Amino acid sequence: MKALRASVEPNIVNHSIALEACMGGIYDYLKSINQLPSTELPKDDWLLAGLIHDIDFGGEFKELHPGKTLEALAKHNLQISNEVHQVILAHAASHSGVTPKTKAQWSIFCADSLTGLILAVAFVYPSRKLADVKVSSVLKRFLKEPKFAAGTRRDEVAMCANSDSLNIPVEKFIEICLISMQKIAPDIGL
Ligand SMILES: [Fe+2]
Repeated sequence: MKALRASVEPNIVNHSIALEACMGGIYDYLKSINQLPSTELPKDDWLLAGLIHDIDFGGEFKELHPGKTLEALAKHNLQISNEVHQVILAHAASHSGVTPKTKAQWSIFCADSLTGLILAVAFVYPSRKLADVKVSSVLKRFLKEPKFAAGTRRDEVAMCANSDSLNIPVEKFIEICLISMQKIAPDIGL
């Protein structure tokens, strides 16, 4: 956490905490419906990948993101397993060339940009509180307002529904991520 704060801007730290929460929520959901193959990484690895996936998105490494994760960690004497590294690389498949295959890789790939849309929905609420955000408002913004939070890669988020990825309908996926982020809202000042 210290290394993350030292490496990237505060808004990226908050996004990272949000994605960590989403990874945990998706893991729990898949486990609860028996859709987690025994070959999947443990939950701690899912959380870690979410938390540090953008750690090289700052300073000298920014232009080379996500290719400098290991170097950014090494500056703080930290290391990760190759498996966690592959999950991190999969979040930016078009840059890293690592296309998602495992559930953890699909989860980080589909949820990464969704966190930004959920935060943007909270910001337009009068209270600016994540706790007040309804699944239906996120869904409406996601499905019917393509210009809202235009940086959201809606096509990638929607791939959560594919049977060879997570096989979670987009409505359910948004609900899981929203609820997961609401639980950590105080940690990101919302
Ligand atoms: Fe990210």
